[in-house]
Amino acid sequence: MFGETILVTGGAGFIGCNFLRHWLKAGPDTIVNLDKLTYAGNFGNLTDLQNESRHVFVRGDICDSELVDSILERYRPRAIVHFAAESHVDRSIHGPEDFIQTNVVGTFRLLESARGYWSRLAGTDKDKFRFLHVSTDEVYGSLGPDDLAFAETTPYSPNSPYSASKAGSDHIVRAYFHTYGLPVLTTNCSNNYGPYQFPEKLIPLMVLNALNGKPLPVYGDGQQIRDWLYVEDHCQAIGEVLKKGKPGQTYNVGGGAECANIDVVNTICATLEELHPSAGQPYRSLITHVTDRPGHDRRYAMDTRYIQRELGWMPRETFQTGLRKTVQWYLANPEWTKSVTTGEYRNWVSTNYGARGAA
Ligand code: NAD
Ligand code: DAU
Repeated sequence: MFGETILVTGGAGFIGCNFLRHWLKAGPDTIVNLDKLTYAGNFGNLTDLQNESRHVFVRGDICDSELVDSILERYRPRAIVHFAAESHVDRSIHGPEDFIQTNVVGTFRLLESARGYWSRLAGTDKDKFRFLHVSTDEVYGSLGPDDLAFAETTPYSPNSPYSASKAGSDHIVRAYFHTYGLPVLTTNCSNNYGPYQFPEKLIPLMVLNALNGKPLPVYGDGQQIRDWLYVEDHCQAIGEVLKKGKPGQTYNVGGGAECANIDVVNTICATLEELHPSAGQPYRSLITHVTDRPGHDRRYAMDTRYIQRELGWMPRETFQTGLRKTVQWYLANPEWTKSVTTGEYRNWVSTNYGARGAA
């Protein structure tokens, strides 16, 4: 079977690089990977794909329409899977501008290029073209303890500069379907975790701090709830939406694993004690409550019945099995960690945690 080509944006980031592996393994397609290589995009995430002839890396910005147009004309992809974004809520609080630029302006420019390209396609090439936009559950805002989980019909109510920028991009994507008929698909998913996640996010940060005997900084009371989705399950869901999703639809994706942050951190400590026992003080003794994140959303939860019913997708991992695989991966890949915890990372740690007092 001969493959076709798809364009992936942000494929050097956490979810993007996992998706590349997933899609290359699942079928014969070639993937053109357009990534700016910001602090979050890392060549170390692609080491094993260096000799893969079906992976073409292009360093560049999704805001650069000339570049995107030339990629589309040269490689003639049958789909665009759009991961590229500024993705970290805390960074959006310290500096929102990049979030508006990449997430809103960048998505708009990419859509414009896609629209131009798609409008020049004909026949089955035009019919089967898809633009898949990867978004987040954070666009729906924050839930109370007894509220129903977010459904695809839940009104948007974003609270951070990050979620507002993603909400903006979702609306533009939607408008391109309704106004121009561009065959778009949107996925909104919950907190991912797994291999290659940059250690600014909760789970890898806690694993690496614990291994280095550093404090485990829990924001506020640690009772904020997130739904945790193992990254391979997310990649599988994106694949199903790409293959079978209905243009114009959005699909909520979640792990069915709601957990309070403090329980996540305690589970990480217990898993580490088992796989890599602490030499002195138990890992749990490193837990430190620090000043809360401004505007911190209290609870997210996903109603995933639509994707289950329509596309037959279900997560395979429980939080326990997924977390164990994740901790094992970080233990087995200290070189990767060394390569991403560079000067930029150390500056970020002092910007975000330096000024936080005890909660
Ligand atoms: P990430 O921060 O790990 O990776 C983002 C990638 O995009 C990096 O490789 C970066 O270099 C690239 N990038 C950034 N700006 C760019 C630009 N202007 N042009 C080209 N490339 C650019 O992010 P992630 O965690 O892999 O998230 C991927 C997508 O999934 C994002 O759209 C994010 O909003 C969404 N999402 C993430 C999660 C999560 O838990 N990580 C959950 C829901 C949704
Ligand atoms: O819900 C999906 C979103 O999940 C994605 O759209 C984002 O791209 C992704 O970054 C993630 O956002 P969160 O803010 O939920 O993830 P983060 O890992 O930064 O934080 C998870 C929770 O842990 C959150 O309630 C804040 C808390 N936290 C985080 C850090 C980094 C701490 O208590 N201490 C920390 O040091």
